[in-house]
Amino acid sequence: MAGKNFGKGLEGVTVADTKISFVAGMKGHLYYRGYDIKDIAGNCSFEEAAYLIVNGSLPTRKKLVAFSAELKRERALPDGTVALMKKLNKKTTPMEALRTIVSALGSDEPDPRDVDAHMKLKTGLSIAAKFATIAAYSYRIRHGMKPVPPNLKLDHAANFLYMLSGKIPDEISSKAMDTDFLLHIDHGFNASTFSARVTVSTLSDLFSGFTSAVGTLKGPLHGGAAQEVIEMLDNKIRQPEDAERYVMKILETHGRVMGYGHRIYKTYDPRAKVLRKNAVLLSKMRGNMKYIEIADVLERTMREQKNLYPNVDFYSAIVYKHLGLPVELYSPIFAIARSFGWLAHMLEQYSDNRLIRPAENFIGKTGLKFIPIEKRQ
Ligand code: COA
Repeated sequence: MAGKNFGKGLEGVTVADTKISFVAGMKGHLYYRGYDIKDIAGNCSFEEAAYLIVNGSLPTRKKLVAFSAELKRERALPDGTVALMKKLNKKTTPMEALRTIVSALGSDEPDPRDVDAHMKLKTGLSIAAKFATIAAYSYRIRHGMKPVPPNLKLDHAANFLYMLSGKIPDEISSKAMDTDFLLHIDHGFNASTFSARVTVSTLSDLFSGFTSAVGTLKGPLHGGAAQEVIEMLDNKIRQPEDAERYVMKILETHGRVMGYGHRIYKTYDPRAKVLRKNAVLLSKMRGNMKYIEIADVLERTMREQKNLYPNVDFYSAIVYKHLGLPVELYSPIFAIARSFGWLAHMLEQYSDNRLIRPAENFIGKTGLKFIPIEKRQ
């Protein structure tokens, strides 16, 4: 039996070394392979940052061109997978489709367990590159539209927007999507990343690791939060005048204001800072400042009442809304970006593996006398 001193929800428990990203929660910094996210977000494209996270160093121009070309080549889905997507029940959300289709991709490939690190990297990139296509296709198929094949001239973010609408997106929208993807690539041992690592720590394959991670990300306390944020803003708060009253009521009843609080950040989430700027920019462009006005009241009230700050999901929700993205795609968008972080973590786990198997604090009974079924009450 484990001792009593354990962190419920594994809070404060360290399970492995990592060089990939570091969340300095008290100071509100996030580092990708040593670089502060605030420098990365202003100076790198999503592809550049994904390369950094997966390969460990910033790419030269030549390496970046090759990496982007590889992702473009790998975006297309095998025919069998598209046929399977068409067979899914129309009630299947894009996030549920992602969970199913990422797993199904595994039946087309050799089991990458037995291959070297280079092949694992190639397989992993091929899977990660397909996330955006799966999300866009499943959305269009579900709503009775023909899938729009990837456009090889566009980068990952612009191509995602293109595959949703069939129209080349404007530069500001593409840039906002690119930055949002970049800010979601990696974040320490968050729940979905941890679950990917747990899966491959059994020496299971990458497809299984990605599938576990998608399932974990889906929950409202993790990747599902942005969807909850917009539902809160649109259906519960509705207007700035009602924002403070809403927060006070939630806090009185010990509820949760979605998009606020974080297990690690005890100050402003640095990703939310960047996203807020884009949310303001897009709000001005659309001539609709309502969400920002509500956000200002929430920020002030939550800080005064609970010393809590907005997290990444709060402002991404406003960005997505102004990009005209359907709510059912909010969690898949998170997955499209985080898939590259999951890959980096799975490769790191394989490279220095030990089965992840925590101890538990057993609080049940032992020594009960067995009762035959006919004598049970
Ligand atoms: N709204 C209201 N109160 C909140 C809160 C929120 N969003 N997040 C945390 N709190 C409060 C808790 O009620 C608790 O207060 P208490 O000490 O008075 O009881 C305290 O802050 C600590 O909360 P706890 O649940 O222990 O924090 P955690 O580390 O387990 O939870 C989250 C982290 C992210 C799950 C939590 O902040 C949350 O549920 N946020 C809303 C969902 C969300 O935005 N998720 C996306 C995360 S990126």
